[in-house]
Amino acid sequence: MITEALIDTTVKKMFAGIEFPAEPAGLYDPLRYMIEIGGKRIRPRLCLTAYSIFRDSIANEVLEPARALEVFHTFTLLHDDIMDRSPLRRGKPTVWKKWDEDTAILSGDVMQIDAYKRIATAPSDKLEAVLELFSKTAAEVCEGQQYDMEFERVPQVSMEEYCKMIGLKTAVLLACSAKMGALLAGASEKDSEAMYRYGYELGMAFQVADDYLDAFGDEKVFGKPIGGDILNCKKSWLTVRTIEKLSGKEREDFIARFNCSTSSPEADRVKIETIRQDYMNCGADTDARAEIALYTSKALEATSSLKLSAIRSETLRRFAEKLVGRAK
Ligand code: IPE
Ligand code: IPE
Ligand code: MG
Ligand code: MG
Ligand code: MG
Repeated sequence: MITEALIDTTVKKMFAGIEFPAEPAGLYDPLRYMIEIGGKRIRPRLCLTAYSIFRDSIANEVLEPARALEVFHTFTLLHDDIMDRSPLRRGKPTVWKKWDEDTAILSGDVMQIDAYKRIATAPSDKLEAVLELFSKTAAEVCEGQQYDMEFERVPQVSMEEYCKMIGLKTAVLLACSAKMGALLAGASEKDSEAMYRYGYELGMAFQVADDYLDAFGDEKVFGKPIGGDILNCKKSWLTVRTIEKLSGKEREDFIARFNCSTSSPEADRVKIETIRQDYMNCGADTDARAEIALYTSKALEATSSLKLSAIRSETLRRFAEKLVGRAK
């Protein structure tokens, strides 16, 4: 039986002992910095949790692909922070702020290659499936990031467009993590696909929660600046829902307020406060919490075809609850 405690210690060890080349330090130091300051390590945790549904002990061969998921995720953050002009990540200065943009681009590039090298260590009978899944996912994340940026420059987007965008930029990597764990455990294609759906719906819940925390979280816990999405005119779940709920002049006024740019710290503060108030006035904040719960239940439904024992269902339920109950 692979317990939650065993997954915890395995993930901790996995990154305590991770090695990158020493030289050139300007290329590898930012990478070490990001891995060492550590995030929640959700994707490797999800990979091992999915693996634990089909196996009773952790074989070494799952460890490098699980590491690859975190390294790839961290690469996306390096580039995302440049694109979003974000100064803070995991409570620390972002790489482009601490070093510079060129460093963040190149260190990100080498991280992506590092991730591929780790994926390539998958056992030969599973390598083709694992590699195909990973490459498809990596391209989809780029597609999602492109939509995310394009949406900053349009006045509004529909809920359908928003869901497609977050499905690509965030949910597919969680889906891939869960499916990869299943594939490496030797699960059937049908069961692996059920785990993909579980990860996908959880990923949707996770991004809605991220959008919620970006407006209503506590910066000290969240580790990222509150209101960044509002200042970047990001069409977050809260924005899209508010536009859906308003009509007529109220709606037009909100869209205009939301899309105006600010150019002083005081104007930033006022915009963040005003938009947060708009969200609360129409109840979009409460709706976001309901939406997160809905996606979480869809994730659990997706695994019903697996006919799991009570203990294994409980593992997946607990993972989902911890993931979406996050404050960071
Ligand atoms: C941040 O991911 C990017 C999103 C998909 C919202 P995480 O919230 O998993 O970031 P870390 O790795 O824990 O810092
Ligand atoms: C994250 O979107 C998606 C990826 C990094 C691929 P966000 O831009 O919302 O992530 P944070 O809030 O900066 O972590
Ligand atoms: Mg972004
Ligand atoms: Mg960002
Ligand atoms: Mg965010």
